[in-house]
Amino acid sequence: MTDHILIERPEAAPGVQVIRFNRADKKNAITRAMYEAMTAALKAGDADEGVRATVFLGSEGCFSAGNDLTDFMAVAMGGVMAREAVDFLYALATHSKPLVSGVDGLAIGIGTTIQLHCDLTYASDRTQFRTPFVDLALVPEAASSLLAPRVMGHQRAFALLAAGDVFSASSAKEAGLIYAVVEPGAVERETLAAASRLAAKPPKALAIARNLVRGDRSDVLARIDEELGHFSAQLKSPEARAAFEAFMTRR
Ligand code: COA
Repeated sequence: MTDHILIERPEAAPGVQVIRFNRADKKNAITRAMYEAMTAALKAGDADEGVRATVFLGSEGCFSAGNDLTDFMAVAMGGVMAREAVDFLYALATHSKPLVSGVDGLAIGIGTTIQLHCDLTYASDRTQFRTPFVDLALVPEAASSLLAPRVMGHQRAFALLAAGDVFSASSAKEAGLIYAVVEPGAVERETLAAASRLAAKPPKALAIARNLVRGDRSDVLARIDEELGHFSAQLKSPEARAAFEAFMTRR
């Protein structure tokens, strides 16, 4: 168990389950225990008819700085790839309820790629989306290499995933990565309001509509596996180890 992920059922948003990053002192970097807690919440939401929409939220000014680089370093030093992260990606890609995300501030790595699995993302105007995979000698994950080109077109997906360019909230909206840009103080309100509206709709019709819009998921799962093959190999590479060491010793 970890208190770095909070699972909330806000009274003001009936039928909505919130998965909240709660590790602000580490910029909500995601540890193995946090992945495990999120997977459990996604699966519990799948099984619970009372959950009609799932929401991701972070802290003020920070959604998530991505995977905990200390965990990556442990793999680079000879450990094994965290099963918890892989399980989370599968649970995310196959989650059966609408996924709504509210992002304020930093959204790095999986903090960005998670949006590609969400049905609606509301981001504050100070949000920055960034995936520095290649700078860390890593490769795209979470089927982002498949989903981003579909959503944004090749060049913007390449800029995001390979060049590691920063996308402001307005560029992300223009690219189709997110749905709406709002004031920082309105992120949670707008996100929960959108999730509540979805939760109030006829659930079966909504599920069918969502499945039709998203399409078959087998290619997404296959791409997660394909990316993981490269990701695991790169994690153990000397260039990745050097990049993690540079982060750990940057001060
Ligand atoms: N993994 C582990 N710890 C992280 C982290 C990560 N991904 N991101 C931030 N932290 C920790 C820092 O080590 C620091 O811990 P400390 O106070 O014990 O030293 C704390 O969070 C605050 O981060 P700091 O770097 O001091 O804040 P900042 O505002 O100067 O910069 C970031 C914030 C997110 C830009 C910077 O921390 C960063 O680049 N993090 C790495 C992001 C990343 O590459 N993620 C992986 C993507 S695949």
